[in-house]
Amino acid sequence: MPHKKKAITIVALAAVVLLGTAATITPAKMHRNLKVLPQDISDRQLDSIMDNYCRALKVNCDFCHVKPKDITGLAPVTGDLDFALDNEMKENARRMMRMTIDINKNHFNFDSTKRPDYLLNVVTCNTCHRGNPFPAHE
Ligand code: HEC
Ligand code: HEC
Repeated sequence: MPHKKKAITIVALAAVVLLGTAATITPAKMHRNLKVLPQDISDRQLDSIMDNYCRALKVNCDFCHVKPKDITGLAPVTGDLDFALDNEMKENARRMMRMTIDINKNHFNFDSTKRPDYLLNVVTCNTCHRGNPFPAHE
């Protein structure tokens, strides 16, 4: 019996330590994890770009964004999407963003002094996608 009690105390302590760690990792709400879009982009611009992606691919935010993983395994995975968190589909989307920037930069805009994010977007996600997340398959 004393052994069992000790084990429970250790498990409880481990949980406290893990939850503490999670709390220090996740409240990075203001931290931006932008690898393609400009760091100084406004919230409004960001929202409008994300809305465009949803419309072009005819998907919701959760097609590319996931909820934070519960690292303790003690709580169910609930709550909001963590937009800064990376995953495979988000990485795929970044590849598409870079490709779209390249197409516009190299084939439609010839003024090489402009920042890529200010280039005229002749080709957009919707040029190819037209409401289909996987246009190669339809
Ligand atoms: C087609 C995939 C895709 C869809 C759909 C999408 N996003 Fe994103 N989102 C991305 C990618 C990729 C990035 C990271 C861009 C970068 O690295 O520059 C991002 C970044 C963000 C960020 C910035 C996170 C940070 O690092 O601080 C926010 C906020 C965001 N998205 C919100 C949304 C919302 C809200 C929706 C739904 C309306 C949405 N996204 C739909 C792909 C997507
Ligand atoms: C030149 C055409 C073209 C443009 C422009 C384009 N895409 Fe794609 N995209 C494709 C094709 C084709 C596929 C399907 C690949 C497949 O089925 O394997 C695809 C697939 C995807 C996927 C699914 C994951 C994957 O890699 O297969 C995502 C997410 C995506 N595109 C996001 C975007 C976003 C966001 C934009 C705009 C920034 C964009 N695409 C612009 C052609 C394009």
